[in-house]
Amino acid sequence: MAIILDCSIAAASIRTEIAEAVSKSVAQGNRPPGLVAILVGEDGASQTYVGAKKTACDEVGFAGDVRRFAADITETELLAEIEKINQDETIDGLIVQLPLPKHISEEKVTQAILPAKDVDGFHDINMGKLAKGDESGVKPATPYGITLLMKHYGIDASGKHVVVVGRSNIVGRPMSMLLSAAAPYGNATVTLCHSRTKDLGEVCRRADILVAAVGRPEMITGEWVKPGATVIDVGINRIERDGKVKLVGDVHFESAARKAGAITPVPGGVGPMTIACLLANTLTACCRAHNLPEPKGLTA
Ligand code: GUN
Repeated sequence: MAIILDCSIAAASIRTEIAEAVSKSVAQGNRPPGLVAILVGEDGASQTYVGAKKTACDEVGFAGDVRRFAADITETELLAEIEKINQDETIDGLIVQLPLPKHISEEKVTQAILPAKDVDGFHDINMGKLAKGDESGVKPATPYGITLLMKHYGIDASGKHVVVVGRSNIVGRPMSMLLSAAAPYGNATVTLCHSRTKDLGEVCRRADILVAAVGRPEMITGEWVKPGATVIDVGINRIERDGKVKLVGDVHFESAARKAGAITPVPGGVGPMTIACLLANTLTACCRAHNLPEPKGLTA
């Protein structure tokens, strides 16, 4: 049976490190890092995610603020709100919770955020720096969180075969770039799989580290897992089973856990690591804006 990679423990240790850095900096007379989350409309899951981000801000001593707007806000109005935050020197990080209502371009909104404040790491400048292995960019929070999770559990990607299933801009593609980078958390040989991949099961069975981020409930079963592999499940899918709504990952947990050496569960998966890394990115942005030394423990 596999070791369960407990993301809530790994995330708590990152939050503790951030809280200590903040309290030291504030004691020296600096203002706390500021993070704003913009929430448009009433989407239930988005409200939960943003609530968790605000709670995490409070816990580490950040000035966290949620700005809520009605679903009928115009794109122009929303872009003006973003510009206000871009100009505000007391705010280091800005996230606009996705999805947005259909009449607003997510692309335009994402690209309107100042790259230095883009703590989700979605801006083209940050994605471009990631592609080039330039550490001065902001790393996308979920893939960054996965590298820190691996560090926490002493899982070294160097020289290993990593298979990433799913090529999204938020998880799969940046994950493949981070793990193949010439960096302490990288140096893996990465295969990025997607809906057109032939013999996906065969490819997965060759993975020392398997990252599932496709959004297909329990698609990856134990049959696709190499004995002893590390399995990281980024999927969160709501399904109905036996008349009840259940949260499951992209991996069929029971069968995969019998084959894997280590595995992340769902629920209880990488979510807290994403939030911890949003905080880490905000702290780093704050340090860079004020020419303060960046905390060392937050590098994977
Ligand atoms: N919606 C779902 N995941 C995310 C995320 O990581 N960041 C933002 N801004 N919106 C999301």
